[in-house]
Amino acid sequence: MEKKGLIVAVDGHSSTGKSTVSKILAARLGYTYIDTGAMYRIVTLKAMREGLIKDGNVDDEKLKEVLPTIIFGFKYNEGKKCYESYMNGEYVETAIRGLEVSDNVSLIAALPYVRELLVEKQREMAKEGGVIMDGRDIGSVVFPHAEVKFFMTASPEVRAQRRYKELIEKGEKVTYEEVEANVRKRDYIDEHRETSPLVKTPDAVLIDNGDMTVEEEVEEMLKIIRSRYESR
Ligand code: DC
Repeated sequence: MEKKGLIVAVDGHSSTGKSTVSKILAARLGYTYIDTGAMYRIVTLKAMREGLIKDGNVDDEKLKEVLPTIIFGFKYNEGKKCYESYMNGEYVETAIRGLEVSDNVSLIAALPYVRELLVEKQREMAKEGGVIMDGRDIGSVVFPHAEVKFFMTASPEVRAQRRYKELIEKGEKVTYEEVEANVRKRDYIDEHRETSPLVKTPDAVLIDNGDMTVEEEVEEMLKIIRSRYESR
């Protein structure tokens, strides 16, 4: 009998290149890639458009009403060789990556009722196995029994520099200082929120990629995934 694919949890700080390596790993292994950050970003975009975020406060009552109406879609773009996000059928990949959504997303991701719904959806999406899922709470909450767990990190300066380059290439008008402040603020909120704070579980393999190339990282992670698969 053929063995089912593994569930691979990739957690870590923002802008550590989790999605870049996760996409490559998924392609090499023939697994499905699930970007859970995009799901929190979609909820944030919806809340912003509905005017539910004001001065750092969220209108919980209205958001609870709107939440079940959101349809999350991820389609594979053959040309670009990557998954792109849709909200109720609308292409939102560009909108959810902008600085405005990035600035508000930690606020939304800290809400227990939002997390509860998204975690439920994430478990459903991975029930067949053969999945690389990236996020902040995958190894700690969504799949505490995932067969492979990685925790990725790098210094805030290295991460801000990467993110700044990415945003400038996309034509966003931002300064390096703004981006670094955003990275540090997100780290703080992610690590200190009450519900599912970002933590490295003891069984996660730490990958500090400040001095690693993407290829080196992918090779190291593939070795670990393959050895876990063989030893099952
Ligand atoms: O990975 P990202 O930068 O796209 O994530 C966006 C935000 O969502 C980030 O501030 C942390 C949050 N997030 C989370 O709380 N839990 C997840 N599983 C994924 C993302």
